[in-house]
Amino acid sequence: MNEREYGPRGGGPGEAFAGARLHIVTGKGGTGKTTAATALALALAADGGRVLLVEVEGRQGVASLLGSAPLPYEERVMLSASGGGSVSVLAADAEAALLEYLELFYGIRRAGQALTKLGAVDFATTIAPGLRDVLLTGKATEAVRRREGGRRSSGGPHRYDAVVMDAPPTGRIGRFLNVNSEMAGLAKVGPIHKHAERAMSVIRSERTRVHFVTLLEEMPAQETRDGIAEIEALGLRSGAVLVNMVRPTLLNEAELAAAAVGELDDVALADGLGAAGLDDPAGLSTALAGEVRAYALRHLLELRVRGELEDVGRPLVELPRVEGGMDRSALIGLAGRLNEQGVRG
Ligand SMILES: Nc1ncnc2c1ncn2[C@@H]1O[C@H](COP(=O)(O)OP(=O)(O)OP(=O)(O)O)[C@@H](O)[C@H]1O
Ligand SMILES: [Mg+2]
Repeated sequence: MNEREYGPRGGGPGEAFAGARLHIVTGKGGTGKTTAATALALALAADGGRVLLVEVEGRQGVASLLGSAPLPYEERVMLSASGGGSVSVLAADAEAALLEYLELFYGIRRAGQALTKLGAVDFATTIAPGLRDVLLTGKATEAVRRREGGRRSSGGPHRYDAVVMDAPPTGRIGRFLNVNSEMAGLAKVGPIHKHAERAMSVIRSERTRVHFVTLLEEMPAQETRDGIAEIEALGLRSGAVLVNMVRPTLLNEAELAAAAVGELDDVALADGLGAAGLDDPAGLSTALAGEVRAYALRHLLELRVRGELEDVGRPLVELPRVEGGMDRSALIGLAGRLNEQGVRG
């Protein structure tokens, strides 16, 4: 089977995704990380790809997005992409990852379960938060490296064409991804140390990108700019800025500027409303002019925030605001919009 290569597309958003096999999706809380990560996984899976979507916060965000029961710690095909691809989902949590790890390296699943009962897993991951992160990034990066035919087959095709991680928010992303330094004081030798190093080599590789979800609002955009700087200072690669919940532009810039200062021609508006046969065109036009002004002010702010994001120099990719609730078909629609913008090259 041929491996799928994404991009490059010569500039544009394709550059932010080209050749990447691990896509880490972060952003301010509540901006749409889970939604965007799921849409990105669907976009990358279009036309026959196999993509794994990993969530690492133990919050069952993907299950609630898909309206399904809580997901077990198991890779499970949950979505079909357009053209025949599939998205598997893994809801990873540190405890399950630790038990799996103990079983893999020491063959002690039962002992692991006893440890859980004793609260030892909680204890270990609480005193060493770095261990929690190593286990979660280790799980995602193992899926990136995995080949068909099991752990020992090195030459076969990859099990997944791409892995998308619904990652912690911007406030924690740097620490979360910088597992090696987190682990430095904890385990200098031994299997955990090796595990951390292997995870770090995937995260640092040129086939990994960190994408930032934002809204066209001050705070999330500021977190995006700070997050990109932090990620790059760590020597990791930033990818695209995913601008979420974009509303259509109804007025051009001159109209926006006029509307914002209340200079829209409301006589013409009243005439138009009258011509359309509406009662009280003058009263209606005053009320509408107020709404238009509010829209214009908000939109001008969005334009300014967008300009500040463009200055960062990463490609902007847009996801429209979906009206009427998020469901699978809305997600497929968002994935289509991502592919129109060259995400898959
Ligand atoms: N493009 C969109 N159009 C409409 N609604 C959206 C869009 N993207 C996200 N939402 C909605 O916004 C809410 C937050 O989205 P989501 O859960 O993906 O954010 P998040 O960043 O993962 O949040 P958290 O930080 O809590 O994990 C959800 O109700 C989701 O349906
Ligand atoms: Mg989420």
